[in-house]
Amino acid sequence: MSDQSTIRRAVLTGTGAYLPAQIVTNAEMAARVDTSDEWITERTGIKQRHFSAPHETATFMGAAAGRAALEAAGLAPEALGAIIVGTSTPDNAFPATAVQIQRELGAKKAFGFDLAAACSGFIYALSVADAMLRTGQVESVLVIGSEVYSRILNFEDRGTCVLFGDGAGAVVLQARDVAPGGVGVLSTHLHSDGNLADILYVDGAIGRPGMPGHLVMNGREVFRHAVSLLTGAVTEALTANNLTAADIDFLVPHQANKRIIDGVGKKLGLPPERVIITVDQHANTSAASIPLALHTAITDGRIKPGALILLEALGGGLTWGSALLRV
Ligand code: COA
Repeated sequence: MSDQSTIRRAVLTGTGAYLPAQIVTNAEMAARVDTSDEWITERTGIKQRHFSAPHETATFMGAAAGRAALEAAGLAPEALGAIIVGTSTPDNAFPATAVQIQRELGAKKAFGFDLAAACSGFIYALSVADAMLRTGQVESVLVIGSEVYSRILNFEDRGTCVLFGDGAGAVVLQARDVAPGGVGVLSTHLHSDGNLADILYVDGAIGRPGMPGHLVMNGREVFRHAVSLLTGAVTEALTANNLTAADIDFLVPHQANKRIIDGVGKKLGLPPERVIITVDQHANTSAASIPLALHTAITDGRIKPGALILLEALGGGLTWGSALLRV
């Protein structure tokens, strides 16, 4: 129960990550398709990506990241209330990846479900978890982004196959009664525009006979929309909280492309040292990219307790959104 001087919030208590052992450099991609390290680096900032071995599925990687996040939070799997997995590349149509991870972790009393919002999957999952925690439905949620995009890439299309990689990231959120100026998720803002579906999509799935599905993208159009929609989403978060960009300690963006990230950072007037970049290390890992970046910056000591951080993402749908939280 909250008394009048406190407010119930979803508080970040742990992070975890998993990247497949196999690293594929830009030079190695150049041996596979007609591209070069120079082209990829200049256009995207990507230097390497991780590609999964057959056993490194969304469940396997998500469970590893989730286990690490629970350990960091000091929360026993048996005490966990719910698991939400943002993924577009599940092992099975069902059971959901989240339920398979529940089994792997021994999180006996947790319920779980997957959420499909492409590269915005983590922000969407965080938003749902935040609502469930604030309304008292659960006391703790493991939010995971886990993706194996190497399985949906068209390696005949150099314009897309060099941009993506595999991996998983996870956070634990726990309900806490905190002072209004204290830690926790302050806001989330979500958006979709199905009219822009044809600029970034997967051309099939289990429900479409004979079409397992490959990623298709009009990169130029995605780029054109990304900076303005993402700037809109972060401005919306700042306005809703009566803040300005100067109040933000770190921007932790979806790691798709360094040029998009730089564009948003510049529009906000944020110096580069306050923008977390990991896309060079793992390329675009879709729903996994924000928790991977967050985990990196928390474990290397850049993001310290009390920091105000702004998350943003855009992906197929189109879907996009932002989240503001104090860690
Ligand atoms: N290596 C070398 N050349 C490549 C290439 C590659 N991997 N991919 C495309 N090209 C070539 C094209 O064939 C084209 O050649 P042409 O001029 O002879 O026809 C040229 O590079 C320019 O292609 P274009 O697609 O216009 O490049 P671009 O400047 O728009 O950059 C992206 C391409 C994909 C890097 C850029 O559009 C982008 O970053 N978009 C956003 C993508 C993204 O982040 N999506 C995920 C959001 S969740």
